Amino acid sequence: MKTIASIAGLRAELALHRSAKKSIAFVPTMGNLHEGHIKLVRRALTEADIVVVSIFVNPLQFGANEDLDNYPRTLAADKDKLIDAGAHLLFTPVVDEIYPEGMEPHAKLSVPMITNTLCGASRPGHFDGVTTVVNKLFNIVQPNVAIFGKKDFQQLAVIRKMVDDFCIPVHIIGEETARASDKLALSSRNGYLNADERVLAPTLFKVLDAARTEIANGNRDFVSVENTSKNQLTQAGFEVDYVAIRDGRTLMAPTEKTKEYVILGAAKLGTTRLIDNLTLKA
Ligand code: PAJ
Repeated sequence: MKTIASIAGLRAELALHRSAKKSIAFVPTMGNLHEGHIKLVRRALTEADIVVVSIFVNPLQFGANEDLDNYPRTLAADKDKLIDAGAHLLFTPVVDEIYPEGMEPHAKLSVPMITNTLCGASRPGHFDGVTTVVNKLFNIVQPNVAIFGKKDFQQLAVIRKMVDDFCIPVHIIGEETARASDKLALSSRNGYLNADERVLAPTLFKVLDAARTEIANGNRDFVSVENTSKNQLTQAGFEVDYVAIRDGRTLMAPTEKTKEYVILGAAKLGTTRLIDNLTLKA
């Protein structure tokens, strides 16, 4: 695996593969890689000839009070995992490479509506930071396909909307969430949990799963299902941000046109914010 930090260097390398008619799959990440990220890399290997992974902790998507400075940076271990998985190229730009004049004057890309709700409501500006950097990374890598995790369901929906609206010629693939044996969704932020919190954390999955069963059994009083889930989480010791049952494509309230429901939850255990979601055919 080649590690390249400059845009020009990566482009030169990719030009060689492109002229050899190789297809390119791209997996953007912020590093501190775990089995969830590696699942995306393995999927990418089945989708194209050359797999490019980026590791860039994007300051533009972190709020003022968020964990940018403390975000875990584990490049040496990440590289080992990517080599084991079989990735071909690793792009590791520094912040100045992506935002040479700083973040303030840099052009921004914003996807309205779908970013005002759920995580976007509690993290203002977060998704603009995500779409801005992902669009830039797409233009640098120019992949045929890009793989994102369903774990960040709203992020995946926002990226799909960006790609549709701007006719970006990249095929977006959503990969299933990788979970620990107790069903906790793997996340770089799980490392912030203390031992007691780690025991409690899978309750988020259990509560969302119980809501899914309710809906599967025919309950269509979504507000009451949401409230039951919120109460269950609060009683277990979570500080609930939201539990919401939405249309899986628009992330708005389900309608008669809804093909897939998604049950999304975000809640804090101590200072750690956890998210998870489950889907269900309508
Ligand atoms: P990061 O949190 O590092 O996640 C990178 C990718 O891994 C995302 O597509 C995310 O959905 C996926 N992922 C994380 N945990 C997963 C799990 N348990 N199972 C499956 N996939 C999982 O998401 C970002 O970085 C950034 O916002 C980024 C898209 C790179 C833009 O900066």
